[in-house]
Amino acid sequence: MTRLALQYGAINLSQGFPDFAAPTEIKRAAQEAIAAEVNQYAITWGAKSLRNAIAEKFERTQGVAVDPEREITVCCGATEAMMSSMMAIINPGDEVVVFEPFYENYGPDAILSGATPRFVKLRPPAWTFDPGELARAFGPATKAIILNTPNNPTGKVFERTELETIRDLCIRWNAYAITDEIYEHMLYDGARHISFASLEGMRNRTITINALSKTYSVTGWRVGWAIAAPEVTAAIRKVHDFLTVGAAAPLQEAGAAALKFPASYYDTLANEYLVRRDRMLEILTRAGFHCFKPRGAYYIMTDISSFGFPDDMAFAKYLVKEIGVAAVPGSSFYNDPADGRTQLRFTFCKTEKTFQAAAERLAKLKAGSSAAR
Ligand SMILES: Cc1ncc(COP(=O)(O)O)c(C=O)c1O
Repeated sequence: MTRLALQYGAINLSQGFPDFAAPTEIKRAAQEAIAAEVNQYAITWGAKSLRNAIAEKFERTQGVAVDPEREITVCCGATEAMMSSMMAIINPGDEVVVFEPFYENYGPDAILSGATPRFVKLRPPAWTFDPGELARAFGPATKAIILNTPNNPTGKVFERTELETIRDLCIRWNAYAITDEIYEHMLYDGARHISFASLEGMRNRTITINALSKTYSVTGWRVGWAIAAPEVTAAIRKVHDFLTVGAAAPLQEAGAAALKFPASYYDTLANEYLVRRDRMLEILTRAGFHCFKPRGAYYIMTDISSFGFPDDMAFAKYLVKEIGVAAVPGSSFYNDPADGRTQLRFTFCKTEKTFQAAAERLAKLKAGSSAAR
């Protein structure tokens, strides 16, 4: 969709990258690291300064103490951290449980690592799951469950009781949880992020994935990490070494500085995103979308049934070509594309200028869409 947005000059509300500046301090720290000749390979599993900062922040914010020497692997973004983790633990014949709709990469991650995915539905409007359906997805072949909270694309933030249900199944079937917590600081309406590793019994069964990308608005830097028990980390480090050797050394140093930002940085980040979320909800609702209000992350899932298009792809193409706004078709987030036929995802990590332009274009939609069909 980003490619189509460029082709048709559309406002790009598809891919989740901010169109505003990254914090001055993190950019300065990167510039200083380059000037100070931090330009050669970092230690394969991550610069000590960054691993120490990750461990310190995880304990400070989530109360989970980890050993930066044996339990952290710095990777090229959360993407590589997820892939290296899956390749580290999956053996032929293993199954992984995946909630759907899911962040697009989890499907290919399962295929590349050789795992068979077992999908469990999150159902609107609150994107809750049926505990019975989840229990049926687990079995002797289950190696792990992939969890993403706060969630892309739904904006769901998993509640403690839900996490405990998942935890009990992981313990019963001796399975890992791989939790992607990249949106941990984007929370609205009193939602609280609970790291899965903080749950009793999950400390050594959880692989926690995170990154600089979203929290510090540097998606292009490609710095992320996996936190896991020592024996799992040893395997993740081996895969990581052979896949990428290491993440960008000077950007790791900048990351170490960023992870020490005071609590006020994260409060401001969440407050600013709340304003953006409400602005985007207003724009989409006015244009005729039915919105599922997100409690976390920076996306809005919408129901597009009322526009009367045959499916999400047809509507997304119409939107990008004729209206000039790009969004992601709901089918991208499901194993069976038919399940996302009536859904479309918009991102709101954008400036007011972008919102204004999108609002003007989407205003044409209500009036024009039926004529165009
Ligand atoms: C849930 C989720 N995980 C991971 C990523 C990618 O993270 P990174 O850029 O650090 O590889 C994204 C990006 O959109 C995401 O939404």
